[in-house]
Amino acid sequence: NHHDLPVQERSIVLVGLMGAGKTAIGKRLAAQLGLPFYDADHEIERAAGMSIAEIFQTHGEAHFRAGEKRVIERLLSGERIVLAPGGGAFMDPETRALVRERAISIWLRCPLPVLHSRVMGRTHRPLLNAGDPAEILARLSELRSPTYALADIIIDGSEVPPQVTTDNVIAAI
Ligand code: S3P
Repeated sequence: NHHDLPVQERSIVLVGLMGAGKTAIGKRLAAQLGLPFYDADHEIERAAGMSIAEIFQTHGEAHFRAGEKRVIERLLSGERIVLAPGGGAFMDPETRALVRERAISIWLRCPLPVLHSRVMGRTHRPLLNAGDPAEILARLSELRSPTYALADIIIDGSEVPPQVTTDNVIAAI
């Protein structure tokens, strides 16, 4: 490990595919740990004055990724927080290196049918609107799982209610 902060000072960064529960679990974790919660997508939308879908449409994915990286760098350079970035953020090698230095990373691993049922009918995710969401999720899962597995801790993200997963994360950190 290449952490440069003692464990009690590290932020907590949630990793995993769309629908894994990064935001839902992140909010609960933050409340229970008494830490501020940030959703990187939300911060990007605020900074850009546009939705993620509009950013993808107007400027393309590469532009979104560059902004995402800057936002995460800023959020991880201050006080200890709980951070839910978008599912693609941990795929960037520099972002991953920064997360490894400054945070405890937690992969919320979920079976594909669970992810699919959670994202179904929700249209704000541009990557899932490019075709059959189940197929896209399956392809992304294949592509990303080896990298997500580099997270410090792996937790089953499919448990209900979300409090169970939250408690499992707290027990593991
Ligand atoms: C993305 C996930 C989304 C959002 C964007 C791209 C991805 O966030 O950042 O649509 O590449 O997995 P969530 O994981 O919060 O849905």
